[in-house]
Amino acid sequence: MNYEEVMKLALERGFYFPSCEVYSDANAGFWEYGPSGVGLKNKFLELWRRELIRRDGMMEIDGSQIMSKSVFEASGHLGNFADPIIKCTKCNSTYRADRTIAEIANIEIPESADLNEFDNAINENKIKCPKCKGDFGTTKKFNMMFKVGIGPQEEEAYLRPETCQSIFVDFPRLFKTMRGKLPLGIAQVGKSFRNEIAPRQSLLRLREFYQAEIEVFCNPRRLDEVEKFAEIENTIIRVQTDAEPISMTCKEALESGTVPNKFVAYYLGILTEFYEKTGIDVSKSRFRKLGDKEKAFYAEVAFDFEVETTIGWLELVACNYRSDYDLSSHAKMSKEKFEVMDNDEKVLPHVFEISMGIDRSLYTILEHSLKNDKEHERMVLSLKPYLSPVHVGILSLVKKDGLKEKTDEIFLNIKRKFDAFLDHSGAIGRRYRRLDEIGAPFAITVDHQTLEDNTVTIRKRDSMEQSRVDISKIDSILLESVGFP
Ligand code: GLY
Repeated sequence: MNYEEVMKLALERGFYFPSCEVYSDANAGFWEYGPSGVGLKNKFLELWRRELIRRDGMMEIDGSQIMSKSVFEASGHLGNFADPIIKCTKCNSTYRADRTIAEIANIEIPESADLNEFDNAINENKIKCPKCKGDFGTTKKFNMMFKVGIGPQEEEAYLRPETCQSIFVDFPRLFKTMRGKLPLGIAQVGKSFRNEIAPRQSLLRLREFYQAEIEVFCNPRRLDEVEKFAEIENTIIRVQTDAEPISMTCKEALESGTVPNKFVAYYLGILTEFYEKTGIDVSKSRFRKLGDKEKAFYAEVAFDFEVETTIGWLELVACNYRSDYDLSSHAKMSKEKFEVMDNDEKVLPHVFEISMGIDRSLYTILEHSLKNDKEHERMVLSLKPYLSPVHVGILSLVKKDGLKEKTDEIFLNIKRKFDAFLDHSGAIGRRYRRLDEIGAPFAITVDHQTLEDNTVTIRKRDSMEQSRVDISKIDSILLESVGFP
């Protein structure tokens, strides 16, 4: 389905909605997850933990969202984490230079290009302010970090613009105390903050957003010694180095030199396997190799994992080979030692990063899972059962004749084992539609026959097929279907 239909579902069924919406001074770029959104997000993260963190034997930390100025001096964010902006000399409206030029003149200039490239494009194409047709001043850099003042002295600190900086600064302690061994993956889930100039499209460009980041520390001289490579050598990935994405196995990607080494190929493989399990159509995905001007300032090699949606290709994950950029910068600034032993060799590890945007991933799952079942005049969110915010609806056909009490009893027995939703009111057809829209794979209905023979009907979301089962079978039917793969 398209963006508008997903938005309608999100607003009406408790997936997400704008923050502070009852106030007229609510800022753009801040959104909240409702109960259905939180359920989906938690299950998505549980899958991420299973398929990446536990699969690869990584460790997970939970760091501070506010970090000291030194961190971002060392990381380069104070100097480099900036977008090109242009301001109208007449009405003072401010725009992102790259986007405005792309929208008005259809010219793509990477955001990291020299500022005079933007000025030249504006002059040559006579680009004016879209609001008042005034002239633009010259392009400037706008740092996207949120500055905060700590304590009464208002000491300068920043909300983190990426979660990974705590992983880098914590690395020496973690490696030592957790008896680390290279290669070592350290992960973190949490909020990051970017003062976007033009936040837009709900979850797709936020000022406060969730990331699930993995930093794999490795010995740069051993990038082809990856025993686990055999697990994914036949996994199909789609890689775009040129005009079109090409499907190939991880082995072919390695042998053709499309990916630089076994280490990177392995992580692109397990990432694709993870997304396949989210229900996203990975035949519409690509790892797009970024050119020098598109890469982030810390990346030596970068592949963006992008997925095609109705509003174009969305970047869900940045896969960056950050070399020793971060560890050597923090070692220099903090004067701490970041080298570790790898067998008998002292190394300053390199880092391969898998930086996942959670909000965008959830949007894409919703878009790829939402179907308009015209034959039955319903919208169905065909989520993988293990990602559904609600596993099962428990409904009484009518409230009278003791059916309500029997339904409550069934609900009480399963509500701590499964995500169950109890619903007594409204037409049964409408209650089924509601469950279909939040992606509940099952609905159980208690009717008069239940009182006679202890059976209920169980309805499957996708096929709408209904069957009668004994109440004692409910647990095993649900267990078999809603567990993680
Ligand atoms: N850590 C990489 C990013 O936030 O894009």
